[in-house]
Amino acid sequence: MHTSTAQSGFADVLIGTQFGDEGKAKAVDHLAAQYDVVARYNGGNNAGHTIDTHKGRFALHQVPSGVIYDHVQLYIGSGCVVNPAKLLEEISSLEKVGVSVRGRLTISPFASIIQPSHILEDGVTGGAIGTTKSGIGPAYADRARRTSLDGQVVNLRAVDLLNNPGRVQESARASLAEVISRYSIPGINQEEMMRAFREACDGIREFVTPSPTFLVKKADAGSKILFEGAQAALLDVTSGTVPFVTSSSTVAGAAFVGGDLPPRYHRRTIGVAKLIMSRVGNGPFVSEFGGRRSEEYCDGKAHTRSYEESTYPDPRSLLRSGDPFEVGVALRMLGGEYGSTTGRPRRMGSFDLESLEEISRMNAVDALYLTKADLLTLFSETLAGTIPVTSYYDRVGTSEDSAPRPIVEHRVGFNEDITGVRSIADLPSAMQDLIDMIEQRSGAKVEGVGVGPKREQLALRS
Ligand code: IMP
Repeated sequence: MHTSTAQSGFADVLIGTQFGDEGKAKAVDHLAAQYDVVARYNGGNNAGHTIDTHKGRFALHQVPSGVIYDHVQLYIGSGCVVNPAKLLEEISSLEKVGVSVRGRLTISPFASIIQPSHILEDGVTGGAIGTTKSGIGPAYADRARRTSLDGQVVNLRAVDLLNNPGRVQESARASLAEVISRYSIPGINQEEMMRAFREACDGIREFVTPSPTFLVKKADAGSKILFEGAQAALLDVTSGTVPFVTSSSTVAGAAFVGGDLPPRYHRRTIGVAKLIMSRVGNGPFVSEFGGRRSEEYCDGKAHTRSYEESTYPDPRSLLRSGDPFEVGVALRMLGGEYGSTTGRPRRMGSFDLESLEEISRMNAVDALYLTKADLLTLFSETLAGTIPVTSYYDRVGTSEDSAPRPIVEHRVGFNEDITGVRSIADLPSAMQDLIDMIEQRSGAKVEGVGVGPKREQLALRS
């Protein structure tokens, strides 16, 4: 029987509680120094985190956010899908600013490889969901389908790069040809695509471990592990806003499947919630400013950041608009809310407490980090001058297919500059009241509040 030893390590799990882009990297960046390993358990390069550090600004997609701490080991678990070329690009952009992952990054043998065929297929089929077109859905689908093509298993795992790199190429080539023919995709240079894929596969091989117990051994040796969820609870493939979700399990429990660690090591769960919500891609968003009009406006490529900057040269004046859609535009522009992976405009909405309560209970969230509190001062410039919070849903008369109506509570606003505040106790009383309400409803303790984009701009519980 396996018994715990005194020096046994543990794992905490950090998740996004909304639609992604909550600012998880900021919380991870703050917490990571306390851990020995930061590990991903789901998703691929559809994730995008931007962190500002003294070493420069990083855009992370697949490398876990603990990367800037030299002592932290980085792990990409079997629940992830890996794009080899994008991973190498990310590694080299980190190296350019003096951050190396060599000897620190380990990929699970069972992580699946995103193939050229997956990216092409997502480009054709991902539009209805509004995917990032990174090939995520097709890669997970191939894993689940367990099919073979021309005698080769279609799903490719990282361990195949070690054991049979030739087979990887043959299989990926067959899959590419099949997808091109299935969707009649014109103008593809298959040779060039396969050459780039082969080189990238060769480049990531050094990071792949053959051992399925890599992380278990670390935990047994006393390592403290932080699982960093990608995307967020409302995008979970099973319990999110299906079908407008990503294709992996994003909830806290999934860390102990996709992270290659048994659940006995779990210690606590940390949630991250943004105080003005956003969503990229299609699907329900109960508290959205401007509702359907906003969803349609943000769909597609037309309304980029530069389009909005030239169309609305004075976003502050839009804050005083009586039209919630325009208030949403102003919040997006003033908050810089554009997708870090795709550049798409994010749909904006009020803080949804009803949803946070449910997600916190479903995941037993122990601690919360709230982000972008500094932006709440923008509401003092609106007609109402109050902070809108979606407190409850009105489901009376709604069917399963129709969205519930948000019951919006108008909370007292504040306009003090809080960007220099470092202790939760020093935040304005209106903000403290909001925190109290969030703690009561979620059952979680608020441990940190983001008050600006820089890494040190975090107010903590003293
Ligand atoms: P996919 O993950 O690329 O298949 O996209 C599915 C849905 O998840 C789309 O609505 C995407 O916009 C959304 N999504 C995927 N990754 C992220 C993320 O990291 N942040 C926010 N939304 C995401």
